[in-house]
Amino acid sequence: MVLQEKTNQLSEKNSCLGEVLIPEEKIRAEVKKAAAQLDKLYDGRPLLLVGILKGSFIFMADLCRELSVPCEIGFITAKSYYSGTESSGKVTVSGELSQDLSKYHLVLVEDIIDTGRTLKEVVRIMKERSPVSVTVVTLLDKPERRLVEFEPDVSLFTVPDKFVVGYGLDCAEQFRNLPCIAEYIPEK
Ligand code: IMP
Ligand code: MG
Repeated sequence: MVLQEKTNQLSEKNSCLGEVLIPEEKIRAEVKKAAAQLDKLYDGRPLLLVGILKGSFIFMADLCRELSVPCEIGFITAKSYYSGTESSGKVTVSGELSQDLSKYHLVLVEDIIDTGRTLKEVVRIMKERSPVSVTVVTLLDKPERRLVEFEPDVSLFTVPDKFVVGYGLDCAEQFRNLPCIAEYIPEK
């Protein structure tokens, strides 16, 4: 209830925040289910969760705390040069993973798959380091917007072709702290 009030307050102060598409209780329930899936898959196996910054930071924090299996956690940064709500198509990946990846099952943790370019590039780069396996878990998927072929292994929610913010996702670095997923409407 307190968090719903926070969303309302943010919405009053930001005229470009639209409808809440996914409330926080729904996110919490699906995060638990995804963690249960990972628990089954990686029981007794060396597991490294790799969050793709910045958008995945809240999802990663919640997902890893729902897991029962041991895991290590790392982050890399992927930038797709957004100006407003449109991506340029260029993806750069940076950041260190100090582990020898050939000893781990990797789970890439992403906030949203839009054109598919970011994850395609991240998976390509990660595979060069010969991990035992690579699994992609995304909080949100916008399949209507895909420009390159890419399917996540686990997707918690499918969203329509709308720009969304909250729960780690931003527009020009704003709204990452919104506890739910809401639509962003530039000219509202
Ligand atoms: P892709 O390379 O087009 O699949 O884009 C992936 C990245 O673009 C995501 O990791 C997000 O950071 C960003 N992105 C795509 N759609 C949205 C959105 O609706 N809201 C916020 N960020 C988005
Ligand atoms: Mg991202």
